[in-house]
Amino acid sequence: MNIALIGSTGSIGQKVLEVVRMYPNKFKVVALGTRKNVEKLEEQIKEFRPKIVYIDDPSKSVEGIKILRGCEGIKEICSMEEVDTVIVAVDGYFGIIPSIEAIRNNKKLLTANKESIFIWGYDIIKEAKKYNTTIIPLDSEHNTIFNIISRVGRENVEKILITASGGPFLRKELKEFENISFDMAMEHPNWKMGKIVTINSSTMFNKFLEVFEAHVFFEIPISKIKVVIHPQSKIHSMVLLKDGTTWGIWYKSDMLFPIASAMFYPEIPNLLSKTQNIDLPCNISIDFLEPEKERYPILKLLDTIENTTKLERAIINTANEIAIELFEQNKIKFTDITNIIFRTLENFREKEININLEITENLKEITQNMNKLKSIVRDYLLSTIA
Ligand SMILES: NC(=O)c1ccc[n+]([C@@H]2O[C@H](COP(=O)([O-])OP(=O)(O)OC[C@H]3O[C@@H](n4cnc5c(N)ncnc54)[C@H](OP(=O)(O)O)[C@@H]3O)[C@@H](O)[C@H]2O)c1
Repeated sequence: MNIALIGSTGSIGQKVLEVVRMYPNKFKVVALGTRKNVEKLEEQIKEFRPKIVYIDDPSKSVEGIKILRGCEGIKEICSMEEVDTVIVAVDGYFGIIPSIEAIRNNKKLLTANKESIFIWGYDIIKEAKKYNTTIIPLDSEHNTIFNIISRVGRENVEKILITASGGPFLRKELKEFENISFDMAMEHPNWKMGKIVTINSSTMFNKFLEVFEAHVFFEIPISKIKVVIHPQSKIHSMVLLKDGTTWGIWYKSDMLFPIASAMFYPEIPNLLSKTQNIDLPCNISIDFLEPEKERYPILKLLDTIENTTKLERAIINTANEIAIELFEQNKIKFTDITNIIFRTLENFREKEININLEITENLKEITQNMNKLKSIVRDYLLSTIA
């Protein structure tokens, strides 16, 4: 497999490279891409010897290798003949650019990027069908569901159960939520992840995105997808079949497993020969709990999410990202994050904004329009918290 990995310096990107390191004869890195972390990128260039790199930040550079930038750069990477698989490991909406370019160039797409699927998921699936492109999810929940459905058949699925650890505040008194600091929210009990996804796990915005993603990926109504709190994070989602049996997949909370599974699919990698990092379901208690809506108010938005437009979903995601920035800067409280999402959505439903997020031939327009949206939402939010 010849890989272009966009987002190589992040948490998912580094796990992908861990798999490449384990199986150097099976995987070859052709291109790597990062936003600005050129120190890490240089280490990766030395070890994996890609032909080309992508660096988003124009002020950053590395020596001795061709550097590409902007949407044109992503397009060039995704259309390289040597590349057969594009792995999207970036955070944020930018994931839409390599995803669409991979599909249009008929490369296999392995994606962890939640934001692009949340906003443009219907378009991604439509384009993938048009170009007959395979998409395999890397995220543990969707990878689990993908693995089960690909074995049992979509027609036998009754319900999807998405497991959630409940985050660091599963058992915290609700009256103490006002005092949660950024550092407390960054302490995820089970997973080591990037900043945004960690904070999203503490508010459950992460699970909210995942439900919508599962709806899009597996073409199943939201009413047939249920969030189940499973604090031990050992079973990474389940599928209830029409025969009344429930199937799940168990492994230690390490993204190595779903990422290797996606990279090898349909083969099964012999990871046991490479790592001791396994947990057997033995001598352990596991729980499955109903999520409390007062603890995770964002889940209430699932009742109406199926009827939203992509602009509304982009507003929801943008409001969340800006709220996280404001929370990190200590300008708002933890409990304000979700309130801000609801308030921003309501505000822009009343005051319509004219921003086109359609996927056209020229994907640069999307980045320009998303930047415009971000600045409108930021101005609104700053005016309301001043
Ligand atoms: N971490 C997990 O366990 C996990 C699990 C499931 C799904 N996900 C999803 O996977 C995605 C990545 O998460 P993460 O935790 O790996 O994030 P992360 O650690 O913050 O890494 C993000 C990566 O994307 C790069 N990047 C961001 N914007 C870019 C741009 N415009 N151009 C090129 N590269 C860009 C970053 O480069 P710099 O390093 O230079 O900033 C970094 O390499 C997110 O959508 C997340 O929700 C993550």
